[in-house]
Amino acid sequence: MFTLIKNITNLITCKDSAKKPKKGKEQNKIDLINDGFVVYNRKGIFCVGKMIELNKILKKEKIILTDEIDAKGKVVMPGFVDTHTHFVFAGSRSDEYEMRIRGFTYEEIASKGGGIRVTVNAVRNISKEELEKITIKRLKRFIEYGTTTIEGKSGYGLDLDNEIKILEVIKSLNKNNPYFLDLFPTFLGAHSIPSNKTKKEYINEICNEMIPEISRRKLAMFIDVFCEKDYFSPKETDKILYTGRKFGLIPKVHTDQFNSIGGIKVALKNNAVSVDHLEVLTHRDIKLLSSAKHNIIATLLPGVSYFLDIPYPPARKLIEHNVPVALATDFNPGSCMTENIQIIMSLASIKMKMSIEEIINAVTINAAYAIKYNNYIGSIEKGKQADIIIFDTPSYKDIIYNFGTNQIKTVIKKGNIILER
Ligand code: NIG
Ligand code: FE
Repeated sequence: MFTLIKNITNLITCKDSAKKPKKGKEQNKIDLINDGFVVYNRKGIFCVGKMIELNKILKKEKIILTDEIDAKGKVVMPGFVDTHTHFVFAGSRSDEYEMRIRGFTYEEIASKGGGIRVTVNAVRNISKEELEKITIKRLKRFIEYGTTTIEGKSGYGLDLDNEIKILEVIKSLNKNNPYFLDLFPTFLGAHSIPSNKTKKEYINEICNEMIPEISRRKLAMFIDVFCEKDYFSPKETDKILYTGRKFGLIPKVHTDQFNSIGGIKVALKNNAVSVDHLEVLTHRDIKLLSSAKHNIIATLLPGVSYFLDIPYPPARKLIEHNVPVALATDFNPGSCMTENIQIIMSLASIKMKMSIEEIINAVTINAAYAIKYNNYIGSIEKGKQADIIIFDTPSYKDIIYNFGTNQIKTVIKKGNIILER
């Protein structure tokens, strides 16, 4: 029993022909089929092609169709993959937002006791059940803009119990959310330093208590560190990532957001799957990424540049130097308060001069690589999950050209229609 999406005006498959993240000129290839079709069910995508081949294929494969969606005048593409978020948090930091409008910087607010620690207090003072309830509402908002897979970080607990509380919310929602979303948990204990401990004490706690326990309980897939002046130095980052790896966690790094202090080198040394932020990335570090032995993804977060009014990451230079680029929201209460990945795509276009095609690969197949789930999601190909979004517009260019307007019509996750507008 299969569903057919037929007469698709623009079918973007983002086909992963080379079986590796798209970089350089490849980042610009989306594998567009005009007048296409997709056949899928809950087990996955069965076939993809051009409408003129449809009847022949249906007969040959003896496919029985139970449903049909007519996508004439529409765009069909892989569901968006948002691989850098902090979607589990409590409270609001709208007062800090207003302070920033009045001229205070993110770093000044943090040094006055605001910032991450404010959210830490809010998370510590809420039950797991309450935290889960407010998080479900956010998941709905991600879906409304076409996101079907989300990575989420801890880092607002900063002690064993509260870090675990956040990761348990992700685990429980991953097992059981009404939208069949895939959620990928990242342990970011090294997000800041709790006020009642020295940094040394806290790093020991992360390495000797938190990582072993989180790994034992299979609560995280990735480990992340905020490698930044006044947070964690490259040496400290190295120690934490190394320990995480020993316990089976895959490294990612928040680095080069405000200062370039050597995070890229540490990330490469630890085989990180991605380096994220990169607002102040130097030419030297671009070269290092470019000559990396493994495929490391540069995950850029232009929503942060917009929200904090800081420089945008050098996307063009990264692409020119053959570094695969992904884009993500970094949804969090302090530096980017939006679940809307389409805004991020618009910023990447206008502010970082990425092409529409490069952007599409950055939020689909390259993003799938950034969470090592490229065998299942990120492109519309036989055998992958049916994570498919439909836009009510005939040209894929309109998704970015017609900015600020959400043209999502249908969101399909693992073969289930989870949103219809
Ligand atoms: O990715 N840079 C560090 N962490 C987050 C911000 C977290 C917060 O301000 O609450 C980020 O930008
Ligand atoms: Fe972040």
